[in-house]
Amino acid sequence: MAIETSCDETAVAIVKNREILSSIVSSQIAAHQVYGGVVPEVASRQHVELLNPAIAQALTESHISWPEIDGIAATCAPGLVGALLVGLTAAKTLAIVHDKPFLGIHHLEGHIYASYLSSPDLEPPFLCLLVSGGHTSLIYVKACGHYETLGQTRDDAAGEAFDKVARLLHLGYPGGPIIDKLAQQGNPNAFPLPEGQVSLPEGGFHPYDSSFSGLKTAVLRLTQKLQEASPELPVVDLAASFQETVAKALTKRAIACALNYGLSTIAVGGGVAANSGLRQHLQAAGEKHNLRVLFPPLKFCTDKAAMIACAAADHLTRGHTSPRSLGALSRMPISDVMQLYQKKDGSGAAKCPGW
Ligand code: KG4
Ligand code: ZN
Repeated sequence: MAIETSCDETAVAIVKNREILSSIVSSQIAAHQVYGGVVPEVASRQHVELLNPAIAQALTESHISWPEIDGIAATCAPGLVGALLVGLTAAKTLAIVHDKPFLGIHHLEGHIYASYLSSPDLEPPFLCLLVSGGHTSLIYVKACGHYETLGQTRDDAAGEAFDKVARLLHLGYPGGPIIDKLAQQGNPNAFPLPEGQVSLPEGGFHPYDSSFSGLKTAVLRLTQKLQEASPELPVVDLAASFQETVAKALTKRAIACALNYGLSTIAVGGGVAANSGLRQHLQAAGEKHNLRVLFPPLKFCTDKAAMIACAAADHLTRGHTSPRSLGALSRMPISDVMQLYQKKDGSGAAKCPGW
């Protein structure tokens, strides 16, 4: 069983290796919509209210009882610390009460495991393009718990850029799905926008890192200019041009990275993996370069506890468990994942804030 409370979804799931037995998500979107973004304290309070019913429902729908549960996991990093603590404390309490192993799971490792849920034949090594509200990373997946970040964003994450552009166009929250829908009616070549490259000190540009804050500012300037000419904004063309720029920038980096590292599969994860523009561009480029590109079905793209449970099942099979003193961390590089687990001799996990 796994609990996921790192941001604004209260989720509980039960899996058997790569098979989902139940997956419950109580969305908090309505509670945050009035503020135009996630309010951390509101998220924590909502998790407190929604978690116990979600746990009960996960057990009912899976027809599994406590004695049949092998271990209990919760996302412990990265995320909103107050929100993470709700799920983490619940998982540890349940582990103590039912005398089960406890595991802390890195949220991004969970997103990688979403690809295993949708493609059970997938095995490392492969490249994961992780594009969510908090991350834009190219991760070399070597084995369970062993990851190397090859590229990342230097400022805004891809999903964050979608959310911020949606906000400046007064489209609502979360912005990604709204922009995606509008973009499908617009002209992607209506407005040329800067892709945002990361300069290297020795000259040239970083081949895998991205930067989206300049693009967001360019959309802002463009809207201000267009508004001077006419109060009626060409919203669908703006959405299509912005989406096209992001999709092309991500595709270029993912393909270059896979080819340079000799990886024949790119698995995409995170909320932005749902984006239709990214799907089209990356799928086409993959075919051109003879690479296997895996997009999880839309239901696996956003935060779910099933992906956390799938990662936990793999770690548990390998004998990895976390100490019950494990804390929540707002940030943690994915290369540090193995520091969440205690060694076979029982010595503590290094990434365990003492509390
Ligand atoms: O992975 P996720 O559910 O949560 C994080 O861990 O961040 O991703 C949420 C992000 C939001 O920024 C949302 O706007 C974006 O994913 N998103 C999309 C689409 N669906 C969700 N972005 C672009 N196109 C979409 N269709
Ligand atoms: Zn996520």
